[in-house]
Amino acid sequence: MIYQIVYVSEYSGRSPEEDLQSILTASRHHNPQLEVTGLLLFVRNSFIQVLEGEETTIRELYAKIAKDPRHTRLDILLEHQIPQRLFPDWSMAWMPISEAEFCRIAHIKCCDFETLSTLGNNIVSEILLNFAELQNQANGDGIAH
Ligand SMILES: Cc1cc2nc3c(=O)[nH]c(=O)nc-3n(C[C@H](O)[C@H](O)[C@H](O)COP(=O)(O)O)c2cc1C
Repeated sequence: MIYQIVYVSEYSGRSPEEDLQSILTASRHHNPQLEVTGLLLFVRNSFIQVLEGEETTIRELYAKIAKDPRHTRLDILLEHQIPQRLFPDWSMAWMPISEAEFCRIAHIKCCDFETLSTLGNNIVSEILLNFAELQNQANGDGIAH
């Protein structure tokens, strides 16, 4: 079984583009050795991240990420065992998404941190399936991981 954590956090840095770049570089450097895969989204001023892999590894990585000063108020939306990875080919997939698009997919009116942190299990699972499908299409187009 694969352990999956999905959390939302509030961005607390000053330069989202620079920070995202360095987070993705670090993730793509460390995660393959840890056999961790996942997805990172940045919506309005919040991160939503999916981490999947061996349970202890994921818990340890989450604890490390939680200490990162570039975000705060981490809130776990989903934490469970799954039969297989949703993002098997991505050490950390990145999907640029507009607030309007995320709101549409999540069936919410506003994408502020407070709203994102109250998303229920079922809707989070539905959102992930949506993104997994989009990522797999992107993968087929040869977009870099
Ligand atoms: C939202 C967010 C997601 C992150 N995701 C990962 C990740 O998946 N893997 C990882 O190694 N670091 C991740 N980081 C970065 C770590 O907190 C840490 O800065 C990095 O692993 C340190 O890398 P270094 O030891 O090579 O400097 C993330 C940071 C933030 C703010």
